[in-house]
Amino acid sequence: KTTVKTLLILGASGDLTGRLLLPGLAGLLASGGAPGLRLVGAGSDPWSPEQWSERVDGAFAAASKDADSQGQAALAAVAESTRYHQLDVTADGPLAELLSQLEGPVAIYFALPPHISQKACEVLHPEQLPAGTRLVMEKPFGSGTESAHELNKTLAALVPEDHIHRVDHFLGKATVLNILGFRFANRFLEPVWNREHIEKVEVIFDEDLALEGRARYYDTAGALRDMIQSHLLHIMAFLAIDPPATIDERDLRDAVATVLRASSIKAPFSASTRRARYTAGTLGERTVPDYAAEEGVDPSRNTETLAEVCVNIDNWRWKGVPFILRSGKAMGQRRKEAVITFRPVPHLPKGFSGLDSPNQLRIGFGPDVLELDIDVNGPGDIFTLDRASLVTELNAPGMLPYGEVLEGILNGDPLLSVRGDTAEDCWRIIEPVLAAWANGDVPLEEYDAGSDGPANWPTSDVG
Ligand code: BG6
Repeated sequence: KTTVKTLLILGASGDLTGRLLLPGLAGLLASGGAPGLRLVGAGSDPWSPEQWSERVDGAFAAASKDADSQGQAALAAVAESTRYHQLDVTADGPLAELLSQLEGPVAIYFALPPHISQKACEVLHPEQLPAGTRLVMEKPFGSGTESAHELNKTLAALVPEDHIHRVDHFLGKATVLNILGFRFANRFLEPVWNREHIEKVEVIFDEDLALEGRARYYDTAGALRDMIQSHLLHIMAFLAIDPPATIDERDLRDAVATVLRASSIKAPFSASTRRARYTAGTLGERTVPDYAAEEGVDPSRNTETLAEVCVNIDNWRWKGVPFILRSGKAMGQRRKEAVITFRPVPHLPKGFSGLDSPNQLRIGFGPDVLELDIDVNGPGDIFTLDRASLVTELNAPGMLPYGEVLEGILNGDPLLSVRGDTAEDCWRIIEPVLAAWANGDVPLEEYDAGSDGPANWPTSDVG
């Protein structure tokens, strides 16, 4: 494995770089990761060196405050040596010229919309890339199976697959990674982790954030592409994979790919999916306008801000078990968790009473918590069962998800990156739904911002 010497961010003046990438990098540097790294920013905006430095310093400040002296020195070294270049990445020449000046191996982070990344890669030639170059593609990876396939082909002509990092920052979330340890290091789980014992699996990501000024991106994406297409399908895959022999990039990513290949959303989509859009309402202290009235939104696009799909995994382990994935913006309750509902016991000995609902396991993604609901002989009449919860809080993550993902990239490990075939498969799974929605086969429902969603939500009998 190679260690990257230079991180080149394309789209350095954009929102993602300031809000997520640089703070993620700061945490990594502060904890001693990526020693000796150089940071170079490039963007289409004519930024002065001071403007770029201000952005980097601002993003590093919080991590620097909490860091030890070594961490502070590492942050200061990167901040002092960083440079910004104004560049049209889609033009033939300038990017290659910049690359020729950088110390390799270089990780080129395309923090750009997919069609611009595609163009930028098309003008590059393999001989222009410093040895060991890694290409890092921000999500969304393409805008459908076809464009993802096209982008994969373009990238494959430049570097080998294990030098391509398709970013899904959920793969860097500590709780998502904890699913693997929890599932595969605890003997009692695996024998019941299948269709015989599990009734349904839900992966829920309800946010109390609304559009937050992201219309340019979000209005062409919507909840299904933004959240379900990669993030929630990956959580689902981690919950559903067979135990791999090792947690290395090959075994783990093979297992993920196998499960996603077996996954689909079945027609009729009016039964297996729901979509809705928020109307005006209150989120905490804030009032939020109708989504359709938000600046930059084209109401005729009918973009959904809440989506639910029922995924089927057609294999021996999961056949018939609904995996319900749902995510909404501007929801009254923040709820981010996977809920595994077990089947009822086959027989409750006569004499017991009070068993109302089956066992449930909840894996919370912020706050990070594991919670197993069980039934016990509680206080009072010992034959009346009481619900109890075994709860454990998971350790606070050491790094931001982008820090975890960057660490893998800079150390040359693609474990937490999405593999090319999987990126295409994630589109293949949702594309029939996108087509049905575009065709108006599934009504676009409405819900007030700050509410729990549209009427009869959440859907309990979907699928
Ligand atoms: C991003 C989506 O990928 O993930 C956002 O574009 C969403 O719409 C975000 O809010 C959620 O991730 P996190 O880590 O901020 O909870």
